[in-house]
Amino acid sequence: MSTELETDLEAAVERRRNFAIISHPDAGKTTLTEKLLLYGGAIHEAGAVKARRAQKKATSDWMEMEQQRGISITSTVLQFEYHNCQINLLDTPGHQDFSEDTYRTLAAADNAVMLIDAAKGLEPQTRKLFEVCKMRSLPIFTFVNKCDRPGRDPFELLDEIEQELGLQTYAVNWPIGMGDRFKGVYERHSKQIHLFERSAHGSKEALDTVVDLGDPRIEQLLEQDLYYQFKEELELLDGVGAELDLDQVRSGKMTPVFFGSAMTNFGVELFLNYFLDYALKPGIHNSSVGEVAPTYPEFSGFVFKLQANMDPRHRDRVAFVRVCTGKFEKDMIVNHARTGKTVRLSRPQKLFAQDRESIEEAYAGDVIGLNNPGAFAIGDTIYTGQKLEYEGIPCFSPELFAYLRNPNPSKFKQFHKGVTELREEGAVQIMYSVDEAKRDPILAAVGQLQFEVVQFRLMSEYGVETRLDPLPYSVARWVVEGWEALEKAGRLFNTVTVKDNWGRPVLLFKNDWNMHQVQEDNPNLTLSAIAPVG
Ligand code: G4P
Repeated sequence: MSTELETDLEAAVERRRNFAIISHPDAGKTTLTEKLLLYGGAIHEAGAVKARRAQKKATSDWMEMEQQRGISITSTVLQFEYHNCQINLLDTPGHQDFSEDTYRTLAAADNAVMLIDAAKGLEPQTRKLFEVCKMRSLPIFTFVNKCDRPGRDPFELLDEIEQELGLQTYAVNWPIGMGDRFKGVYERHSKQIHLFERSAHGSKEALDTVVDLGDPRIEQLLEQDLYYQFKEELELLDGVGAELDLDQVRSGKMTPVFFGSAMTNFGVELFLNYFLDYALKPGIHNSSVGEVAPTYPEFSGFVFKLQANMDPRHRDRVAFVRVCTGKFEKDMIVNHARTGKTVRLSRPQKLFAQDRESIEEAYAGDVIGLNNPGAFAIGDTIYTGQKLEYEGIPCFSPELFAYLRNPNPSKFKQFHKGVTELREEGAVQIMYSVDEAKRDPILAAVGQLQFEVVQFRLMSEYGVETRLDPLPYSVARWVVEGWEALEKAGRLFNTVTVKDNWGRPVLLFKNDWNMHQVQEDNPNLTLSAIAPVG
């Protein structure tokens, strides 16, 4: 490798940090994103992200359905500079639009920020997303938000994370009071108190008044009772809390916890500074030729998301590629591992919200958007040099199931084509009944929106009107081992067997309880909530 390229790649990896935020609706993801961008100078006034959202509704070049519903279906990549680092925030779709894309985005992330509402603690969507992070051993940074509002006891919140998620916690800072009496946070490493000023509205970078723990004014500043409570809590924290262990953090076993208030922009900068320090840089990826380092001189990456119809006038598709190694350059010619073809990457895009900006180069940890005239599928690897292929992105357990009916037999061809293409694109999973007589596809999704998108697109792009017949199941498990035993057991109560697109057996259960029951009755049965892409 030329030393120049070597130095270039090493420097690029050193500066890069990439993460996604996992949270439940309303925890404050939009607000936190906005504030993070503010520090990065990517926007100059908070509110811009929301303003963009409003603007988006007004502009015409967006998917019709998004406009009708005023929701955001696409996840985007926000890139900003901070303290000489380049940060890539892989934005995951919000709540109504919860879909497999959210899971897949985590496959491209190196770190996750778990955002929690101080009053609510862990919520269902956070738990689900956490499971995906855990599967990949992603380092998780916890931000406990809305401390300016009455919240739960911070010890109780830490306990919940430890007990429910099995993650050790390390509080990097500690809140002093909450709600009306929120006075600020104590930064344990520097032994300094950052005072909260209620007047700060958070539209600009917050002024941070910092006082040393030993400062005699503290008792007055904090009010006596709070001061004593804080001292007690601190003793307890130092006494029973685990020591910070960065190896544990970076292997996803310990989460550094930050308390703050995104809305008032309090604690965000503190968080960002520690995050840069503790987060994983773009690292090694497993591939068909073994582990490859981000500084490997050949370019490679994998497609983690496909987005169709971002601009209906062009009917284009964008393939989002996570760069894993080497340096991407505009117009470069790469190999496509699955098809063996070569592809020229001529119109690469960097995405900020839905503004597209052409990019000239990218490195490991970056995400590029490629125009995809049907060339790419989820999980595809592109590379230069020696052939290599990344592991691909698994199918995640769907939770909603419905037969998709085509009431008009003359449209069979279009129906079939549409369903196949949408499946290939990763819009939805398709399963089939084992009963040959039932030939209609079963749509299997993580979020309701996926059904709506499929029906909408079948209508608008393929001219097929469809009907959905929901099925009463909510858990899917791939059968890894023990299928024979199950066949002997005959029909299982409240359970149905289907086949996925690759003919692999999948069991659908009414609920978790049914699933556990079947497992208990059939100890030789090994089930999996995820399946590799076939
Ligand atoms: P989301 O993307 O996770 O769904 O959440 P979002 O940022 O939209 O925030 C949800 C609500 O919580 C918003 O209020 C937002 O202002 C509020 N919020 C976010 N962070 C904080 C915080 O640190 N403290 C307090 N007190 N509130 C916070 P909203 O009334 O739904 O919207 P808006 O009218 O304020 O825009």
